Amino acid sequence: MADEIISIRDLSKSFGTHEVLKKIDVAVEAGEVICVVGSSGSGKSTLLRCINRLEHQTSGEILFHGQPVKNAQKDVNEYRARVGMVFQSFNLFNNMTVLKNCMAGTRKVLHISKEEAFDRAITHLKAVGMAPFINAMPSQLSGGQKQRVAIARALCMNPEVLLFDEPTSALDPEMVGEVLAVMKELARTGLTMIIVTHEMGFARDVSTRTIFMDKGYVVESDAPERLFTNPQNPRTQQFLSRFIAG
Ligand SMILES: Nc1ncnc2c1ncn2[C@@H]1O[C@H](COP(=O)(O)OP(=O)(O)OP(=O)(O)O)[C@@H](O)[C@H]1O
Ligand SMILES: [Mg+2]
Repeated sequence: MADEIISIRDLSKSFGTHEVLKKIDVAVEAGEVICVVGSSGSGKSTLLRCINRLEHQTSGEILFHGQPVKNAQKDVNEYRARVGMVFQSFNLFNNMTVLKNCMAGTRKVLHISKEEAFDRAITHLKAVGMAPFINAMPSQLSGGQKQRVAIARALCMNPEVLLFDEPTSALDPEMVGEVLAVMKELARTGLTMIIVTHEMGFARDVSTRTIFMDKGYVVESDAPERLFTNPQNPRTQQFLSRFIAG
């Protein structure tokens, strides 16, 4: 428990009368790489968006190091520096160079010096193989390159946890590998991550725990070597039967 970074307790979320998250309990410990899988509409994005405070739960709570996350904009901004998010659609600032994209958040939210922001940007752009593109505009980059910049930008905040919502789903197939390789390397460094993905091979190989969601419920949460070979719940079995070679 000492290392529990995020605690999701009895979390429910409704849009109108439609309950899309139902009594979710998930604890995230330091160093975990949690992959969240499940069919379309099962609530995966909504769960991440609640964790990132882009949505507010209808009931239940989300604790960060044991404390409820506060809702004032300043608190949310500080929290998002600790718990970053990478989106399917990159969400880069299209009017800024790659370098500026990576420096803007750290300057504005963390108030670090220009030199420090520059150093961090270069360090993380190097790590994702995008240092040669610091002066490029996002429109000049491929999807895979944009997503690697988005990851570098998120890393510049020195987050404790990084959330990914289907980071490779908008990419042409030949670019999926380069982004997954970057994420795999992050996992190796011990960064705590929660990754919503349809890449079952990646979830099986890289996650320390895989969560299967269905119709707003966390149906099963287990080590990938068990979940992918011997799922306990019939709904998990049915979902994974498409991916587990017969
Ligand atoms: N802002 C919203 N208003 C109303 N309903 C919403 C809203 N956002 C999501 N939903 C509904 O909540 C349910 C869960 O959506 P969510 O996007 O979390 O699913 P998902 O598991 O991420 O699906 P996918 O794999 O397609 O991304 C869906 O039925 C969706 O239509
Ligand atoms: Mg989604």
